[in-house]
Amino acid sequence: TNDLVSVDQFNNQDVMAILHQAQAFQAGATVQLKRPTFAMNLFFENSTRTHTSFEMAERRLGLQVLAFDPKTSSMTKGESLLDTLKTIQAIGVDLAVVRHPQNAYYRPLVQAGLGLSLINAGDGSGQHPSQSLLDMLTIYQEFGHFDGLKIAIVGDISHSRVARSNMELLTQLGATVYFSGPKHWITNDFTAYGTYQPLDDLVKEMDVLMFLRVQHERLAADSNAAFDAADYHQRYGLTLARAAKMPAHAIIMHPAPVNRGVELASELVDAPQSRIFQQMTNGVYVRMAMIAQLLAHRGLVNVDQLEV
Ligand code: CP
Repeated sequence: TNDLVSVDQFNNQDVMAILHQAQAFQAGATVQLKRPTFAMNLFFENSTRTHTSFEMAERRLGLQVLAFDPKTSSMTKGESLLDTLKTIQAIGVDLAVVRHPQNAYYRPLVQAGLGLSLINAGDGSGQHPSQSLLDMLTIYQEFGHFDGLKIAIVGDISHSRVARSNMELLTQLGATVYFSGPKHWITNDFTAYGTYQPLDDLVKEMDVLMFLRVQHERLAADSNAAFDAADYHQRYGLTLARAAKMPAHAIIMHPAPVNRGVELASELVDAPQSRIFQQMTNGVYVRMAMIAQLLAHRGLVNVDQLEV
């Protein structure tokens, strides 16, 4: 394939191939590019982790990274995203990584059959495939399998591309998904993937507690005005008292950025059960694997025998 835009593209074998390649990169594997290869990261929504770790992954693979700033690009003159990608392709960019607030922005780009490789770094409340794969790597490193794991996704689910991507991949891989948080944030499209339970019941049973950021930038103004952080934390957050009831082997995950003291008690972000910073580290290796697969498809690298 020339694009990685949604977890719908991955069967279990594809997921495991990426996780194993990511582990090889983590162990020091390298690839040899067959010619100079150029990447551009086009972020139309703010990002720290995804943007930085894609750039880190590109540089570690030996790609040359060209800067792109939406505010000074000719998109401010009305040029479309499709024409922007056609332009950078004509100039010689091989890989475009795009984050955009519009759900499924990538469909017309994929349909256009662009000659460059495309990775979706997050579309609105749609998909976040690289986040999902780094979450899968974190869980796989911890447990060595997915089958039968109990995993709760808690919080601002309806706005979350992370929740959408993860509930799909986790159920496909054999885990059982549960949801918790404010019930009005758990819409019908989620109920096919898991059941709602109060957080106090889930904390005692789960192997993984995955919390989601309250996405104030996607909430209506009146919902933001009514939002009470301390009340949310007591009702739907991982308080220290709730965390004390987790099984000894259970882990805490969060895609971050974390609203400390809201989704999680601040101390828990850095606690031994937290895998939040490991998730970020894993993001570099998973993104190296995703990029390497796309470049291999175009004959720009060979990934059959990753060198350690
Ligand atoms: N988890 C995540 O996507 O973080 P950023 O928005 O900082 O990239």
